[in-house]
Amino acid sequence: MAGRKKLSVIGAGNVGATCAVWAARRELGDVVLLDIVDGLPQGKGLDLYEASPVEGFDAKITGTTDYAGTAGSDVVIITSGLPRKPGMSRDDLLAANTKIVREVAANVARHSPQAVLIVVSNPLDAMVTVAHRASGFPAHRVVGQAGVLDTARFRAFLAEAIGCSVKDVSALLLGGHGDDMVPLPRYASAGGIPISQLLSAERVDAIVQRTRTGGGEIVSLLKTGSAFYAPAAASVQMAEAILRDQKRILPCAAWCDREYGVGGYFVGVPVVLGAGGVEKIIEIELDDAERAMFDASVQHVRELVNALP
Ligand code: NAI
Ligand code: 2OP
Repeated sequence: MAGRKKLSVIGAGNVGATCAVWAARRELGDVVLLDIVDGLPQGKGLDLYEASPVEGFDAKITGTTDYAGTAGSDVVIITSGLPRKPGMSRDDLLAANTKIVREVAANVARHSPQAVLIVVSNPLDAMVTVAHRASGFPAHRVVGQAGVLDTARFRAFLAEAIGCSVKDVSALLLGGHGDDMVPLPRYASAGGIPISQLLSAERVDAIVQRTRTGGGEIVSLLKTGSAFYAPAAASVQMAEAILRDQKRILPCAAWCDREYGVGGYFVGVPVVLGAGGVEKIIEIELDDAERAMFDASVQHVRELVNALP
């Protein structure tokens, strides 16, 4: 019998620990939580394992501060780093999180040389770049989580406005994980019906704006940190696509060179996500306004990456 898959989550804070919960609940494989704070990953790992008889999932969950425990992982989700506080932008985290993600990605690569890395730490598009460089992995095995979360926010707000199930709303969003991200109403539908036939243009514009600032909306409510339930759910959906070779089409931060004319940066685009990581980038047609917004968002990513310490 083939063994279970192995998923490691680096950073056992809000996003990391919640990733462990969703992943164990879905029985994606055995889960290892790693943090630099001794006791934190061990305590959360044991606590979650003790929930398994009640919730009825089979998964071994362990916590550690030692990368040896992560050895041979199929997928590693990197959530280590500082979250933002009210008044901060994601970009304000650049220097501190670069140091953390660089060290983490190098350690992960040493112990799990065949893994696919899903980067979550912010500023996202720059941190995927740092992880790519520090791991030495081919670009298709390094991917960033942003678009699944941002699209989930877009879909949730659309469903609420239409008065329909979130399950029926499908949407797409491109660009970097900043407030200049590019939700694409033209590619959104509910039950197969374009949203332009269900909501007024003003209503859609307001939802697009709320989506762009959705991360900040949660930060200003929480006051002590940033969102974690939806970010973790999004990260685990990506992990599942890879671990189960589902070939899901999801918006992810993927390495784009000639694609979309990006010129060698990680930015949010629709990809096919499967056992090989990013197996394909799908290029969609953009009108002039969409293209201009996408170019502005990509330019922001370039500036951030070029400012990396
Ligand atoms: P948190 O503060 O709750 O957890 C971060 C954890 O990382 C802490 O437990 C800390 O001890 C650990 N850590 C720090 N340095 C480490 C190192 N060198 N090795 C291992 N662990 C280390 O923060 P939270 O809310 O979990 O957010 C984590 C990161 O994810 C932040 O940078 C945040 O901005 C980002 N984020 C990104 C999202 C996205 O959509 N891409 C969404 C939500 C958060
Ligand atoms: C978010 O969008 C903090 O990037 C994170 O919630």
